[in-house]
Amino acid sequence: MKRVALIGLGFMGKMHLSVYMKLREAEVSAICDVNEEALDIESLEAGGNIDTGSEKVDLSGVRKYKDYEKMLKDGGFDIVDICLPTYLHADVAIKAMEAGYHVFCEKPLANRLEDAERIVAKVEETGKFFSVGQCLRYWPAYTEIKRLIDSGDYGRVRYAEFARFSTTPTWTWNNWILNGNLSGNAALDLHIHDVDMILYLFGFPEAVHSRGVVEKDGSISQISTIYRYPDLVVTSSGGWICSDSFGFNMRALYILAKATIELDFSKNPVVMVYPQGKEKYALPLPEGDGYYYELKDFISGIEQGKLSGVVTPRSAADSVKMCLAEIDSALNEREVGGFK
Ligand SMILES: NC(=O)c1ccc[n+]([C@@H]2O[C@H](COP(=O)([O-])OP(=O)(O)OC[C@H]3O[C@@H](n4cnc5c(N)ncnc54)[C@H](O)[C@@H]3O)[C@@H](O)[C@H]2O)c1
Repeated sequence: MKRVALIGLGFMGKMHLSVYMKLREAEVSAICDVNEEALDIESLEAGGNIDTGSEKVDLSGVRKYKDYEKMLKDGGFDIVDICLPTYLHADVAIKAMEAGYHVFCEKPLANRLEDAERIVAKVEETGKFFSVGQCLRYWPAYTEIKRLIDSGDYGRVRYAEFARFSTTPTWTWNNWILNGNLSGNAALDLHIHDVDMILYLFGFPEAVHSRGVVEKDGSISQISTIYRYPDLVVTSSGGWICSDSFGFNMRALYILAKATIELDFSKNPVVMVYPQGKEKYALPLPEGDGYYYELKDFISGIEQGKLSGVVTPRSAADSVKMCLAEIDSALNEREVGGFK
């Protein structure tokens, strides 16, 4: 049984909490948030249930902190799970590792490349187990498609496009997510999911060319990119400027030599395969989401003494690097390359 200290009980912290309630191999032993109301999870329960199925949230044995440094000092856990605003990830992750804990950190690893690199260096120095919430690498629709591509049954990928569209997020603490300097705006915060999947599937491109919707603070709320590879065409679009009645959707289209595969979360079934010369079929998907599988994989990796390596500190830093290159490309109207 691994004991977890969860820092940041906002949207994502509650999501992680709901996953730990389902995982038999882990339990939350401490929670931390600067905002006292956010720690008062029982009061949410009084108003109904957190969306954790039919389970109620029972935090009776869980210690609560407003100051994460005090929590790190007191100890009584094995893992620190960081669900803080992105600009705080690096300092907290580094202090947690220095204090001797394994760390799971939400994506993006950081909003600046120097901070991402500081984390990677600290993981190497301390030898602590470290993973990042690049959840698409665990999301059944995406992982089952990757499995199909890797099987080679339908030949090589010739073209792929990815899209992620959302209404503007309004829920975050002090509205930090809409401050481009703190979050990187949607071009980093949201778009990084598809960028990470592109790197996972195809590795670094030779170069990127992007265009973006630029906000008053100079950050990008909607971005479209073409990735230059020698032998395939890849494009991606993402952002959160959709009208508030739109909600959220993620899509992808993969054209292989002998099949076309479509992923669309607004449709049921979510993934359809259209083989050349054969009947189309729905791709069977395991139950559950990436949030569940990424934490399950991290905990079992720690128990076995070796992480799976699906997401690494380096892969997460590379995804930050790519997003920042796309932002550079869009703002400076130039192709950006030289990633390897
Ligand atoms: N994987 C995903 O799909 C996904 C989805 C949403 C958000 N995220 C990421 O999760 C992270 C958190 O995002 P969110 O939407 O939950 O934000 P949020 O604003 O809802 O939650 C952040 C929480 O951190 C607390 N906090 C701020 N400073 C603190 C400090 N110094 N010490 C302790 N607590 C502090 C706030 O009070 C708040 O409760 C971000 O990095 C975001 O990009 C990932």
